[in-house]
Amino acid sequence: TLVVLQEPEIVAAEAAARIAAEIRAQPDAVLGLATGRTPLTVYARLGAMHRETGLSFRQVTSFNLDEYRGLGPSDPTSFAAYMQRELFGRVDICADRAHLPDGLMPPQQAAERYEAMIRAAGGIGLQLLGIGNNGHIAFNEPGSDFASRTREVTLSEATRNANAPDFPPGALLPETALTMGIGTILEARELLLLAIGARKADALANALDKPPSPDCPASALQLHPRVTVLCDRAAARRLG
Ligand code: F6R
Repeated sequence: TLVVLQEPEIVAAEAAARIAAEIRAQPDAVLGLATGRTPLTVYARLGAMHRETGLSFRQVTSFNLDEYRGLGPSDPTSFAAYMQRELFGRVDICADRAHLPDGLMPPQQAAERYEAMIRAAGGIGLQLLGIGNNGHIAFNEPGSDFASRTREVTLSEATRNANAPDFPPGALLPETALTMGIGTILEARELLLLAIGARKADALANALDKPPSPDCPASALQLHPRVTVLCDRAAARRLG
């Protein structure tokens, strides 16, 4: 289902409402989470819902999509630190049930361990996704196999440029990351893709209006039976 909403704030409100509904229906829900700019307002809203309405994450398990290789939770530019700042520190989630790939472990071991943890949790229920300007989902860059699993990947120049503002001026960006694979993502029972802003318009059109192809990793979502795409008008403007 494609839902085009007027403003970015409404996209965030709708996404937060859907995640909250999932948790209320199933307090021990297994959520897949994303980082980046797009979900920031979603996480702020979930924090507010926890404070104001008692929405509880106490029994929730979560798995983030990705983490930079070489960065640990104590590095402020790691995704683990981002999640702590933006969501985990604002709600009552148990630290030992809030998972990210381990950027400090040997990559193959970290990847296998992550897949095993997802399996042991019974798989992911609702998976939140953003989309890169180049059509990537998680850090599955163009060319990634639709059957790919959690693994170490080399970040594209486009992705490193897009994410450079998150790092201190002059800092060297990680060259690789650990990411869930497209195959891993497609196993979630439900997918929720958010796209905000004109910069995502081409990627979103490639993802939804063209036949699925590894040239646009997000087009793999067409192969999933339960996908909701929430976007604002700017991101929808190239859709047919
Ligand atoms: C984040 C992730 C990425 C982002 C994508 C969009 O965990 O896996 O695929 O969702 O790069 O990033 P933003 O939201 O910053 O435009």
